[in-house]
Amino acid sequence: MTAPHQSLPLGSLALIALFVAAAAGAFAYTAGWFSPQRLTPGKLVDAFAPPTGVALGHRRNHAKGICFTGVFEANGAGSELSRAAVFARGQYPVLGRFNLGTADANAADATVRVRGLGLRITTPDGQEWRSATINAPVFPVSTPVTFYELLHASGSKDPNAVATFAAAHPEFAPFGDWAKNGTWTGSYAEEHYNSLNSFVFVDGSGAEHVVRWSLLPAAQPVAVSTDELAKRGPNFLEQEIAQRVAGAPQRWTMVVTVANPGDPTADPTKAWPTDRRSIEVGTLVAQQVQAEPDGPCRDINFDPTVLPSGMRTSDDPFPAARSAAYAKSYDLRTAEAKDYPRTTPGAKP
Ligand code: HEM
Repeated sequence: MTAPHQSLPLGSLALIALFVAAAAGAFAYTAGWFSPQRLTPGKLVDAFAPPTGVALGHRRNHAKGICFTGVFEANGAGSELSRAAVFARGQYPVLGRFNLGTADANAADATVRVRGLGLRITTPDGQEWRSATINAPVFPVSTPVTFYELLHASGSKDPNAVATFAAAHPEFAPFGDWAKNGTWTGSYAEEHYNSLNSFVFVDGSGAEHVVRWSLLPAAQPVAVSTDELAKRGPNFLEQEIAQRVAGAPQRWTMVVTVANPGDPTADPTKAWPTDRRSIEVGTLVAQQVQAEPDGPCRDINFDPTVLPSGMRTSDDPFPAARSAAYAKSYDLRTAEAKDYPRTTPGAKP
């Protein structure tokens, strides 16, 4: 054994130096320092910045939102697809966030097309299922790099930039059609929320199933024009959901859809054929709404790769890119807490 005061032979020092250089090189590569073209989480997050400036202390996307708590009532049927405890018949606590797909924390509700739902479901075995789903039936782009290009087009001063992007990317068309012609509703409670990304569920026998899932509202969606919604005020969605949940818990059925072999599991612009096997696995119940500044969803990252045992990511490239971008956004916003003051001084949920 080498005594602590003995000097290391030259060969060992060279080996250590080589190891440190390799580690630093790998780190620099991961951070994108060697190639300015390489997409990094920082570049992705910066690309959301609105012309009005970043909303300090807030999420870099889906910046406007409201917290809720409730339960997920599993009916037991999901255990056929995944051994995750969350599908065993029972009730599990939920922390959630209704939100708008915008980087502007003060956007008027009637101006934002995409509405989202962040969820964390906790089970007694100490595991968590985090997810962030949206009301669009498909995503606008097929890869994280193309998403970055779309963000640039959206932020461009050229009024035709998005049209030019869409013309060059035919895969954008189904999302574009929904954005233009899909129904607008007057409530977060009336929206469908879709995972869009695919994941792998692993059942008790070890068999794997590639799935997507949706939350279908118990409330009947009522179509409302954007002109009518604009008259309801800039924050009508938050006011409406707070009142609605205070009156009665709001429910969504969680439906898991299983891919057939050959279905496009790595491309969220492509819906799967409607005849795919779908299983109702339980009900999400929103029981209490809380404003975000002091609420329990403020300082959580609904990272879609935080999955319980019995679920994993698939060949879909988005969840890994999302995880890295959400972590970057989380680090930035939590370090800016003073720019987003709590309403009760000293409150820490
Ligand atoms: C590469 C693609 C994507 C990027 C770069 C991205 C980026 C972001 C960022 C930076 C946040 C804020 C995270 C935080 O501070 O906690 C966010 C939130 C969110 N994203 Fe994404 N996103 C992507 C794809 C998606 C997809 C495919 C969906 C839905 C299927 C989605 C739904 C949401 C929702 C619902 C939230 C709000 C979650 C919350 O309440 O905290 N995103 N996204």
